[in-house]
Amino acid sequence: VSAREKIKAPRGTFDVLGEQAQARTMLEASARAILEGAGYERIETPTFEATELFARGVGESTDIVSKEMFTFEDAGGRSLTLRPEGTAPVCRAYIEHGMHKRRQPVKLWYLSSFFRHERAQAGRYRQFWQVGAEALGSDDPAVDAELIVLLAALLKETGVREVSLRLSTLGTPERRSEYRALLAAHLREHEGSLSEDVRTRIATNPLRAFDSEHEGTRSVMADAPRLIDHLDADDLEHFSAVRELVEESGVAYTVDPTLVRGLDYYTRTVFEFTSAALGAQSGVAGGGRYDRLVEQLGGNPTPATGFAAGIERMLLARAGARGELGAGAAPQAGRGGPAERPLELFIIRAGEHEDAVGAQAQRRAAFALLGDARSAGLSAQMELAPRSVKGALGHADALGARFVAIVDGERSALRDMQDGGQQDLATDTVTHTVLARLRAL
Ligand code: HAM
Repeated sequence: VSAREKIKAPRGTFDVLGEQAQARTMLEASARAILEGAGYERIETPTFEATELFARGVGESTDIVSKEMFTFEDAGGRSLTLRPEGTAPVCRAYIEHGMHKRRQPVKLWYLSSFFRHERAQAGRYRQFWQVGAEALGSDDPAVDAELIVLLAALLKETGVREVSLRLSTLGTPERRSEYRALLAAHLREHEGSLSEDVRTRIATNPLRAFDSEHEGTRSVMADAPRLIDHLDADDLEHFSAVRELVEESGVAYTVDPTLVRGLDYYTRTVFEFTSAALGAQSGVAGGGRYDRLVEQLGGNPTPATGFAAGIERMLLARAGARGELGAGAAPQAGRGGPAERPLELFIIRAGEHEDAVGAQAQRRAAFALLGDARSAGLSAQMELAPRSVKGALGHADALGARFVAIVDGERSALRDMQDGGQQDLATDTVTHTVLARLRAL
């Protein structure tokens, strides 16, 4: 490879900048307001974990673990994996920090990036972001319902269009394994009509047959036994309690007994939000209860439930989004600059200087003013490009600056960009003057 060839971001990854960065900032603010308002506390776990955590937590036979993980060895020969999801790490942290001693449920939320080696396409990336929430230490159906309602609120606030919610229950692993045997028997009975993919997985993962788009498989599945008909009474009761609470909150849903999630840890409640505004990758968010996971990872038995929503898919499904992105394409950066707070003070260095010493003295004065203005709470910026005073004034104007200080050592000229009026004053009074004049407006 020639040393001059351009290096690009790896396949399935993208840079976040421009309007994408702004949209994410807003989304994070909404998530924080909604989740912290509901008593969820921020948690961030490491980007990589022991591979074993996901093998045990997410499940060896899942697509995620069997073919989508970025796994590597450290110098000591330990197997590490870039996190493909956040639930197992949060459970690991819950155990590691003895969080069972806190008041339960422990409610945590995160906004982090995750890694899955999937075929890159629109809405599917190898590094993607999720906002997630996990509540550990309660089996109350109200926790499941609360999470679903909070998630619905977040999707609504983000402007995600054409959302629908599917809800189901998986009961216990015991009933599920009995049911799997029934289902496997049904599949074997109709083996000739199944896709090869499904046929080879009858023993390991027969539930995946419900996911198949293969025509023959679909017709076999139409009269396959349903898990929901083989569950224990208390699991069904839990499910109907969740349903009632969700219904009362006014969030619309359908019960879909064929709903399968790509992770093994679920018990009881499972749900998925999809958006018809997206293409093939229509899953915007999903979650459910995982009452056995903490124990499986070495902790005390701890009922828990949670969700995760894909940031890229939420943004793609927003009203006013640019529509579906081309295959393999990443979210595009807009041309607009950051549209945060209006700029109150722009600081320019006056005049040319014969020597570097003089230039540095002026830079120091300007920089000190910048720090002073910011500590006083002003939104302030300083000219950082080699522009003439005239060019810098034009730049300040383009940035929408309200006041401009042209600093010449201990004296400055303060210009009101609205009326063009200019005042000569001591540099160390600029901040105070700007504050006073803004307050007087
Ligand atoms: P998940 O369904 O695997 O669940 O992922 C949740 C969301 O992450 C998906 O609905 C989707 O929006 C987004 N997502 C997943 N993979 C990709 C990808 N390759 N590119 C872009 N977006 C993607 C979980 O991860 C569970 N940990 C959710 C959970 C939390 N369950 C209980 N608590």
